[in-house]
Amino acid sequence: MGFPKNFLWGGAVAANQCEGAYLEDGKGLSVPDMLLGGDVNTPRTFLPKTDEIAFYPSHEAIDFYHRYKEDIALFAEMGFTVFRLSINWGRIYPNGDDEEPNEEGLAFYDAVFDECEKHGIEPLVTLCHYEIPWNIVTKYGGFSNREVIDLFVKYARTCFERYKDKVKYWLTFNEINIPCMHAGGIGPLYGLGIMEEEDIQSDHHIPLTELKYNLQRTFEGLHNEFVASALAVKLGHEINPDFMIGNMIAHETTYPLTPNPKDVLACMNVDDLHNNFCGDVQVRGEYPSFMWRYFKENGIDTSFITEEDKKILKEGTVDMYTFSYYMTNCVTVDEKAEKIGGNMSMGAKNPYLKASDWGWQIDPDGLRYTLNVLHGRYPHTPLMVVENGFGAFDVVEEDGSIHDEYRINYFRPHIEAMREAIEDGVPLIGYTTWGPIDLVSAGTGQYAKRYGFIYVDRHDDGTGDFSRSKKDSFDWYKKVIASNGEDL
Ligand code: BG6
Repeated sequence: MGFPKNFLWGGAVAANQCEGAYLEDGKGLSVPDMLLGGDVNTPRTFLPKTDEIAFYPSHEAIDFYHRYKEDIALFAEMGFTVFRLSINWGRIYPNGDDEEPNEEGLAFYDAVFDECEKHGIEPLVTLCHYEIPWNIVTKYGGFSNREVIDLFVKYARTCFERYKDKVKYWLTFNEINIPCMHAGGIGPLYGLGIMEEEDIQSDHHIPLTELKYNLQRTFEGLHNEFVASALAVKLGHEINPDFMIGNMIAHETTYPLTPNPKDVLACMNVDDLHNNFCGDVQVRGEYPSFMWRYFKENGIDTSFITEEDKKILKEGTVDMYTFSYYMTNCVTVDEKAEKIGGNMSMGAKNPYLKASDWGWQIDPDGLRYTLNVLHGRYPHTPLMVVENGFGAFDVVEEDGSIHDEYRINYFRPHIEAMREAIEDGVPLIGYTTWGPIDLVSAGTGQYAKRYGFIYVDRHDDGTGDFSRSKKDSFDWYKKVIASNGEDL
């Protein structure tokens, strides 16, 4: 059987990680513009007052803002039929609460979508990929404030109306479940624009891992975001009934470290909170039962979940379930078990898996498993893998070539796993690899953590001329797409 004929093949980026031009043509500051880079051992830091001397990677990123034509042409050369990108909210509403949208920002995305159309590429657009306008953080308290629901819906309306004939595939919030993933302030800041006042007012660098965290505010904020997302889905369908609007979950598949039933139950709880909770709300339109227990046991007052909101959630369920998949982790009650993981999540080390240089455990079989589990959970919903990829250090040879067979070796079995899942009966409709072109890492703020098939000459010390070149994986992915996933 293999991949269906009209399977969507492509790659995914986020505005803040590729565009740069952070204040150009009327754009306002957004959360990533306030963050400095780190590395695998050093968390990114928040530096409140943008400092002229410090190096903020998102400010120039890879300069996609000025080079999108060249980049989209390279994607087209690889045969992309879909390109996932985000609209930077702060380009459209620079402060998040402006009366009128910024025409220059709107025109930029018109030009990008026109370029995609020229090459026969379908855009898949995320409305908010960790890009909440900074003014919404400081003035409103991010999504913990219900007023932000209306601000987001207004922004969504502007985008839907403007691009209704250019964009069919939409996602509301990137990795909406990130705030549930760890007891640290990164998730609430990235996902919800929530930062405690004391941190906002600070005048020194704060490692993101040390940001203050308030459970009640986090879950209230997440609820408001669910409502905003559901209202946007409903509105989108009114504006164009052909829209396919999805959620987006960071799926961090978990296994019990041992067959000890205590590990199995602990794993179930982590899986429910991290992965299933947000998906259930967005696909089924209601809070899953296990969350009521969680709220009770964690002393969370749930009066913010009103009857009216419950109705909105029911009416705004998504048309497709999309997710990122990079790795799997184990769960155990044994506190002494060795830990491993990235900058945004940690788990117990799986003795059967190898990991990337950033500690992300490589598990292609886990992708087949995940796809089947998701199909079992949401049997009537099409699925799309909208992020998957391998962050690695690349070496440029003297002749300019880049031999990244490690990247090909990561992708090959993951694509095989998707093919197997399709044979299993999973309705998988598309695949966008993360970072088809090198970009700024969200977790570490590094350029050195490269994902691309296309190399960008830009480095963590701010050097480089932004020129693009093809890695070995470029021709390999081109061949994969040309053969519809047969020739790996
Ligand atoms: C996902 C995000 O979490 O993973 C992306 O949606 C991010 O924005 C990607 O870039 C890879 O993570 P990192 O930390 O390696 O950039």
